[in-house]
Amino acid sequence: MSIIEPNSLLSAPTGALRIPKYPSNSAGSKDGILFSLIIPTYNERDNIAKVIQVLTELLDSFIHQDYELIVVDDDSPDGTWEVAANLQSSYPQLRVMRRTGERGLSQAVIRGWQAAKGRILGVIDGDLQHPPDVMLQLLRAIEEGADLAVASRHIDGGGVSSWSFVRRFLSRGAQVLGLVILPGVLGRVSDPMSGYFLVKRNSVAEVTLHPVGYKILLEVIGRGNIQEIAEVGYVFNERVEGESKVTWKQYIDYLRHLLRLRLTTGHVGGLKRHFNFPIGRFLRFGVVGFSGLGVDLAVFHILRRVIGLGLTRSTIISAEVAIINNFLWNDIWTFRDISRWQKGVGPRLKRFVKFNVICLAGVILQALIVNLLYNVLNVNEYLSKLIAIAVVVVWNFWVNLKLSWRVTDVNKL
Ligand code: GDD
Ligand code: MN
Repeated sequence: MSIIEPNSLLSAPTGALRIPKYPSNSAGSKDGILFSLIIPTYNERDNIAKVIQVLTELLDSFIHQDYELIVVDDDSPDGTWEVAANLQSSYPQLRVMRRTGERGLSQAVIRGWQAAKGRILGVIDGDLQHPPDVMLQLLRAIEEGADLAVASRHIDGGGVSSWSFVRRFLSRGAQVLGLVILPGVLGRVSDPMSGYFLVKRNSVAEVTLHPVGYKILLEVIGRGNIQEIAEVGYVFNERVEGESKVTWKQYIDYLRHLLRLRLTTGHVGGLKRHFNFPIGRFLRFGVVGFSGLGVDLAVFHILRRVIGLGLTRSTIISAEVAIINNFLWNDIWTFRDISRWQKGVGPRLKRFVKFNVICLAGVILQALIVNLLYNVLNVNEYLSKLIAIAVVVVWNFWVNLKLSWRVTDVNKL
């Protein structure tokens, strides 16, 4: 095992998590460089050499030496930091930070950015689950004017390779929860959970960041000064070496992070700037909803009186016909601008299935609210129902807007 010279490692910044406006030029040229990419690692010994090699080849051909790779390792028991430090002699663009005092993914990324020299700051996982070649598109997006460029699993060209139904469901559930608690942050991008993105230093410098857990992008959008956002689709690869560090704790951290951002960012100015409710779209959605009511009652009548079907069957079938009716009108009218971009039977079917699931969840939500208002808070039965309907209409609209038709900041409301 080779000996690592003490000064071959970057020392980890301490104190507040604030990125300076200009890089501290203790090392290197005064003007800094174009791009600093952070690779956070914890027990990635078997991945790190390959990651560095692939990224170096890619970036060397694209921006020559105008970049640096910074591995930020949290003192991995498997010695990832040491493996990385030993690679430095072969890769002049590589720097390595070993953190011993603190731990945590989001923090590690920010500590890396604090030590970075680039005008563009980025992050990519150190386990090859993020395809490196997408980086070039992200860089291009920033150079074309975006403040933030996010690699997304949920737009065209994106996906997850072979996630189980449970994992997809948990991931989507977390996103929906975030859309409800923090719509002005999570509503802006199609994949707010992405850990693969680039941001301009100017957009995140000189604010004190307070992330908890894994989802650093929430912090960047929530506290940064981000105007223009671009997204690039990518497929989340399977892990080949090592293992994921995700445990149930990350779900708790995520919730804490959402609540902290909710309570401390206020989003008063932010709300006005970012969260302009698409009122026209909402009205069209409402009109379609009313048409659905008519369809529901008419079909119900035919099934009961003309065909003589049972009550339960008639109720379910008429409700489903109404859902189909609503979906079609929403697809060709309410969200016509979006549907036009996502043509074909496959994408439309996908939207329809999502719409169905979200409306079904809406029915359950409605039942919960009616029960809460009527049984616990003693609100009048009809008033309870009315309030529940109002809440669920907003739910149906908002969640469908973000998940079925995926209207984000990138394709403006
Ligand atoms: N420094 C440091 N400290 N790095 C960490 C820590 C930590 O406490 N925990 C995890 N990492 C590193 C891992 O070594 C890996 O390079 C990367 O962070 C992602 O960790 P995984 O455990 O592989 O996470 P994942 O595969 O579930 O990915 C999910 O989270 C990513 C990061 O937010 C997905 O949501 C990805 O889209 C997302 O990019
Ligand atoms: Mn991973």
